[in-house]
Amino acid sequence: MYNILITGVGSYLPKKTLSNNDLPDQLDTSDEWIKKRTGIRQRHLVSEGEFTSTMAVSAAKQALFKAEIDSKEIDLVIVATTTPDQTFPATAVKVQSELNINFGPAFDLQAVCAGFIYALNVGSSLLKTTDFNKALVIGSESFSKILDWSDRSTSVLFGDGAGAFVLEKRNKCHNWGILSSNFYSDGKFSDILFTDGGPALNSRVGKVRMNGKEVFKHAVEKLSSCLLEAIDDANLDIKDINFLVPHQANSRIIESLSKKLGIPLEKIINTVDIHANTSAASIPLALNTGIDSKIIKNGDIIALNAIGGGLSWGASVIKYGKPD
Ligand code: ACO
Repeated sequence: MYNILITGVGSYLPKKTLSNNDLPDQLDTSDEWIKKRTGIRQRHLVSEGEFTSTMAVSAAKQALFKAEIDSKEIDLVIVATTTPDQTFPATAVKVQSELNINFGPAFDLQAVCAGFIYALNVGSSLLKTTDFNKALVIGSESFSKILDWSDRSTSVLFGDGAGAFVLEKRNKCHNWGILSSNFYSDGKFSDILFTDGGPALNSRVGKVRMNGKEVFKHAVEKLSSCLLEAIDDANLDIKDINFLVPHQANSRIIESLSKKLGIPLEKIINTVDIHANTSAASIPLALNTGIDSKIIKNGDIIALNAIGGGLSWGASVIKYGKPD
């Protein structure tokens, strides 16, 4: 019986930051409002020459370095993104090429903020059911490019960045790696979070539109239910979880989750204040922040959960790292 281990985690943040106080005056917002309603203090933004693919490559290189493997060993590349460099080809093939990988499939996966959980599900399933042994699962977003910078109700919430996992199929690693995972969608809620454009709709990229109150309500309910299911499927109790790394959308959503599930805030990684919502990149970015600051250690049991446009959502429980 194979296990799918997470043997390396990497991330990348653009150098350029934009604090709440530096937001354009015409947005008619304030640092106080944004911090109180969301917890966000700043976000990172891509500069000229920085793209979803270049951020993904940087995050992937760091994950490969930590996993101590060469890119040539990678059989499969999945990039979860809603902000690809181009409509086609897939951002994943650009990443594949930059990493000098010239075999195996590389494709993009679009499930907005739930994209990384989706990619983890798809990547681990493919490793289990094919001859592939090693995969790169990446979340990378230039979300700032699809924001309406005159809309204060959405533009203040998001940021850019990337994060990556190296997944490895191993024998005799019982209870390590991905212990459980699930993913869901319900398209009847597609009108509460969407872009007002697309190639087929109007030949434009479109900008983010959202009913924030509705999204908030669904977020707390669905993030809780999928997480409890994943913990149960892993035959664990909520007390066995060393850390929860939730999608980093809003500190109030995270606090509500903490209260609803009885997980103390000290056990929840929260990078909302410095990263804002980086969509598909948010989970690996937050996890890597926990690893780099030595809060998260090899062998920790970590729960991941996310929700985004679709609505799409899901959760996973992992034992991070490798036994040897
Ligand atoms: N600055 C100042 N005022 C603002 C801003 C802003 N940036 N944005 C909205 N307001 C105003 C509104 O215009 C409104 O004014 P009014 O009362 O005069 O009409 C007032 O603030 C209250 O607006 P609400 O939308 O009711 O504010 P709410 O408390 O719901 O907070 C927020 C809004 C932060 C968006 C919240 O609903 C939320 O976090 N929802 C979750 C959305 C989310 O996280 N989306 C990310 C993508 S999905 C995901 O990742 C889970």
